[in-house]
Amino acid sequence: MPSEVPEIIVPTRQGYDRWSEVYDSDGNPLVALEEPEVIRMVGEVRGLAIADVGTGTGRHAVRFASAGARVVGLDFSLGMMGRARAKPNADRIGFVCADCLRLPLRGSSFDRVISGLVAEHVPALEPYLAELGRICRPGGFIIVTTLHPAMNLEGVRARFNDPLTGSKVYPAGREYKISEFVMAAKQAGLVFDELVERAMTAEIAAALPRAERYLNWPMLLAMRLSRSSK
Ligand SMILES: C[S@@+](CC[C@H](N)C(=O)[O-])C[C@H]1O[C@@H](n2cnc3c(N)ncnc32)[C@H](O)[C@@H]1O
Repeated sequence: MPSEVPEIIVPTRQGYDRWSEVYDSDGNPLVALEEPEVIRMVGEVRGLAIADVGTGTGRHAVRFASAGARVVGLDFSLGMMGRARAKPNADRIGFVCADCLRLPLRGSSFDRVISGLVAEHVPALEPYLAELGRICRPGGFIIVTTLHPAMNLEGVRARFNDPLTGSKVYPAGREYKISEFVMAAKQAGLVFDELVERAMTAEIAAALPRAERYLNWPMLLAMRLSRSSK
């Protein structure tokens, strides 16, 4: 009989400190689905000031900095940011260790604010979105991506297989509905420029075996928001 793989839930920051060991190499299908969507939504970045909130291993931040943007990458996991700092062109990024509910960043100071795959871990959506909105310049925009709530219905949450212990580790998170994103954005004074849902593609499933079972199932929710002029 196959042995049961132990499953543990750990505090979010601690979970990502552990996940940092394998985050860039564990063939995460959500990351593969999300990346081209963010690239499309953000557009040309040369010369822009960008905040990457929950930058993790700097997946987006390093690409923006390499393309000529002035980037600040913020995260509360030193383990994740340690990986980011070791990447080529990371010396062009200003790294900040902080909680994304209290950003130590000036208001209205970024042309683009990106927060990729972080929302499913924040304890409340409205203050998180309000902080992203606060640091965004009027005329700029905010991109937020998250695991699609339909994945929660399948019992899926952010997790990794810890190579040290063999356990499935879940950094603590929340399950937000689409309506909760919509209402929190409204309460935070933001408007939707775009809201997209993306299902797993055959192309990604062919490359990443973990993706196969989610083929055609909505896996990504991505939104482009801006400050309401009201
Ligand atoms: C799934 S990773 C995403 C990293 C990166 N944005 C990406 O898409 O590859 C989530 C990141 O959010 C960070 N995070 C979660 N909650 C946070 C909080 N309250 N404040 C700061 N960072 C947080 C975690 O430490 C982790 O690095």
